[in-house]
Amino acid sequence: MIIAIDGPAASGKGTLARRLAVRYGLRHLDTGMLYRAVARAVIDAGADVADPAARLAAARALDVTHLKDAASLREPGMGEAASIVAADPAVRAEILAFQRGFADQPPGAVLDGRDIGSVVCPGADAKIFVTAAPEARAERRWRELVGNGVAISYEQVLDDIRRRDDRDTSRAVAPLRPAADAHLLDTTELDIEAAFRAAVDLISGS
Ligand code: C5P
Repeated sequence: MIIAIDGPAASGKGTLARRLAVRYGLRHLDTGMLYRAVARAVIDAGADVADPAARLAAARALDVTHLKDAASLREPGMGEAASIVAADPAVRAEILAFQRGFADQPPGAVLDGRDIGSVVCPGADAKIFVTAAPEARAERRWRELVGNGVAISYEQVLDDIRRRDDRDTSRAVAPLRPAADAHLLDTTELDIEAAFRAAVDLISGS
């Protein structure tokens, strides 16, 4: 069984995907971490994420079995850097086979990202596209960051989310958009529990 969960930054798709993996006894892959790890490797090598040769080299060298230092990959600046490397078709092509291989191993998996239902696993058994108003997403992400001791304003978080939404939806390759057969799940007014229940209902009906 393969479940594809896509959606914009801070839509709640990661939490949802983790809970669905437990519910259905599947493995889970947060594919955003792959792009974040490529961006981190470029920066650690002293290069610029805008440099195509540097990001391709980092994508080729990525050790997907050891995504070290996960907390630092989640820093706000790393999401921005990840969305720059993720707009590069050569980087996406490097990472595609690993994602498909992960999904195909028994008993199956829940993958979350931007293009899982549309590109990585077009034949997934269930596809959910999670959305929420940018203000609601910014509020959640801001609370989470402040709770983790990060000094950042709500406006900064909202700006970051809008910029990433723009870049992710307007890029030429694998843009953020629901697959034709995806169920839409708007979590603006839903807490995690309600979103989880709604997702299970959608999957049962898939
Ligand atoms: O989901 P997360 O915020 O960790 O993703 C970071 C960035 O990686 C996104 O803004 C997006 O540009 C990119 N990404 C992608 N395709 C995926 C997952 C993430 O392009 N499947």
